[in-house]
Amino acid sequence: MLHTIFRYSRITSTNDIARTMAENGASEGTVVVAETQSAGRGRPGKDWVSQPGTGLYLSVVLHPKAPLKDFWQMAFVMAVSAADSIREATGLNAELKWPNDVLINGRKVCGILIETLKGDEKRHAAVAAGIGVNVNNTDFPAEIARKATSISKELGATIEISNIEGSLLASINKWYTVYSDEGFTPIISRWRELDCTAGRNISVDTPDGLLEGTALGVDDNGSLVIERPDGTRVSIHTGETIWRADG
Ligand code: BTN
Repeated sequence: MLHTIFRYSRITSTNDIARTMAENGASEGTVVVAETQSAGRGRPGKDWVSQPGTGLYLSVVLHPKAPLKDFWQMAFVMAVSAADSIREATGLNAELKWPNDVLINGRKVCGILIETLKGDEKRHAAVAAGIGVNVNNTDFPAEIARKATSISKELGATIEISNIEGSLLASINKWYTVYSDEGFTPIISRWRELDCTAGRNISVDTPDGLLEGTALGVDDNGSLVIERPDGTRVSIHTGETIWRADG
């Protein structure tokens, strides 16, 4: 389903270009790859370190057939694709942390940024699905150094970024086709197999404040279900998971 790759040496953000292309009618499966991004974006308001030669920076234009309210499912399709591709390309034990971080040995190796464009009478609704993978990074900015890793750090050897790209595109092709043909059920099942959060004591930074409890897993709506210390259960749709030292 992926069909055309546009390659750039330096752009602001592959998501910016993918969004502009989608606004101008780019079809599903258009891919944007950059060697470096001058304004790589992470989830809410964070930067994504995007130096040349260290990472894979890629975005895909999608036109899901699902209604707009279900477009959040794309984050799960991409997370499963990314984790499986890293496993296949490297043999490393890539796992998932809600909502959609890919971790190796508890540290983040890949992040996903889903941006939705509402349709109108002229244009189909679209998603710019951005994926950033730390491939050959040797060090990270101080504020993320303890939480981030790269494939080369975990492997103890550098690896061609193009290998990771090829494996990721093959995996997106596979999982997006599964999603289009069979719906969300196989995606969330695979996500649960890759989940490394379930059973741990965690804190979740939510728009309503910090919630603590034991992660029980992810429900069919993509929400994280936690059990609070008082035994009540809460489903969280938006937030960031924070490991606890006693987790
Ligand atoms: C996160 O914070 O976890 C999401 C990071 C997403 C980074 C990727 S790199 C390719 C694409 N372009 C961007 O500006 N961001 C995404």
